[in-house]
Amino acid sequence: MSQRRSHSPFASHRAAKRQKLDFEPLTPEDYKNGIVLAPMVRSGALPTRLYALKHGASLVWGPETVDKAILHTTREVDPVTGVVSYVGKSKAIFTTHPIEKPYLIYQIGSADPEIAVQAAKAVMQDVAGFDLNCGCPKPFSTHAGMGAALLSNPDLLCSILTALRQAMPPEISVSAKIRLLPSQEDTLKLVERIINTGVSALTVHCRTRNQRKREPALIERLREIVEFVEGMGRGVAVIENGDCEGFEDGLRIRRTTGAHSVMIATAAESNPTCFSPTPLVDLEQTFIPQYIRLCKYLNNHWSSTKFCTSQFKGPHVNTSRADTKVFHEAIMHAKGYDDIASRVKPWTGEEEFKAIVATIESRHGRIAPLKLPEQESESAIASKALTPEVQKNGEAGIEKQDELVTPPTGEPDPAVMNAPLGPANEACVPMPAMLTGDLPTPTPAPVSGATVVPLA
Ligand SMILES: Cc1cc2nc3c(=O)[nH]c(=O)nc-3n(C[C@H](O)[C@H](O)[C@H](O)COP(=O)(O)O)c2cc1C
Repeated sequence: MSQRRSHSPFASHRAAKRQKLDFEPLTPEDYKNGIVLAPMVRSGALPTRLYALKHGASLVWGPETVDKAILHTTREVDPVTGVVSYVGKSKAIFTTHPIEKPYLIYQIGSADPEIAVQAAKAVMQDVAGFDLNCGCPKPFSTHAGMGAALLSNPDLLCSILTALRQAMPPEISVSAKIRLLPSQEDTLKLVERIINTGVSALTVHCRTRNQRKREPALIERLREIVEFVEGMGRGVAVIENGDCEGFEDGLRIRRTTGAHSVMIATAAESNPTCFSPTPLVDLEQTFIPQYIRLCKYLNNHWSSTKFCTSQFKGPHVNTSRADTKVFHEAIMHAKGYDDIASRVKPWTGEEEFKAIVATIESRHGRIAPLKLPEQESESAIASKALTPEVQKNGEAGIEKQDELVTPPTGEPDPAVMNAPLGPANEACVPMPAMLTGDLPTPTPAPVSGATVVPLA
């Protein structure tokens, strides 16, 4: 495990001024033994990524951002929260915070090596690595030759990865996320070419381009791919993606596929604490109010907060569906944070944020949560499956998990409902851009009020 310097958001301005590397670069090893948050347009918003990190994700992917979209943005830093927003004509295209930088992979949608490099240069000061989306089957991506369209244009796909690798300094990693091709032979040929571009990691969504989400992922095809990549001897990490439900399931998938890590999308969209061996239950009490408070503190646009919370669902242990329905309905009808205040106040988002920062900083490096014990039997794994008692008592329900090394997840907060409304700071004043290296210098335009709006 690499010991990395703590990355305090409050020290980031000083760090930037020194123009030195303010984080330990990602190596292929940092992509291994992990359970990572998948790129998710809309659902992979900054607050969700922060909670994923708090609850055990080893790395987090940002939502796919099309290369051109970031080029004409202005980088703005909220002096109160430290949130960094890349603001386009009418909204923030990408939002991040320095605390996530050592763990943040920015996903690019591109069909052009030069534009991809320009896009990467525009945001490289705020991320640890870049990932190329080679799997999105949606027409908005494929019609422009991006996403899954790259799977049938390997020359272009590899030229983008090569250009990124050559243009980025060594401390910035490059990776790709693909889907399976219909034939295994063609998949292996593509994988070989991708690995030869110098990527640090390759994520394989174990579905083909034409497979729908409800069809099971073909994870049985992955072992051969992993062995093939290992046989190439470059140490590149292979990350499984498709149908992983959480920590325990991640162990099963690693054992089945031999993958170095697993990536979770849908299950994390429902419950961003699913990376923990003891994910939170009764989310309406234990998570959603806290999430909303954090979002308000970070000036996350209400429509993004509302959308993300509408996706949250988890097991009900001490609450009934009927109890929580009223809460969900209130969120659904709210037009802004004030409309939901009576149910989530006091606005203690700053404390929530500080707790997240403390948890992330207490990692002292990228602790790999999915360390697979060498000779652990299936029955030993099964015995660690979550019992109702563990679900009920949270992390206290598991006394000892020697083999399962997971980042600290902090204490679940008690639900704070119906307390008096406290003050909130929604000011978001542009600051001079923190620049490193030879990045272009965007000139922040003055703005008033909150600037963080939903990610496209
Ligand atoms: C809401 C949502 C948004 C997604 N956005 C992206 C994206 O921006 N880039 C990408 O490569 N995949 C995207 N995906 C696909 C996921 O990253 C992942 O490959 C897929 O959902 C399979 O993983 P799962 O079985 O854990 O859901 C998205 C999936 C969902 C559910």
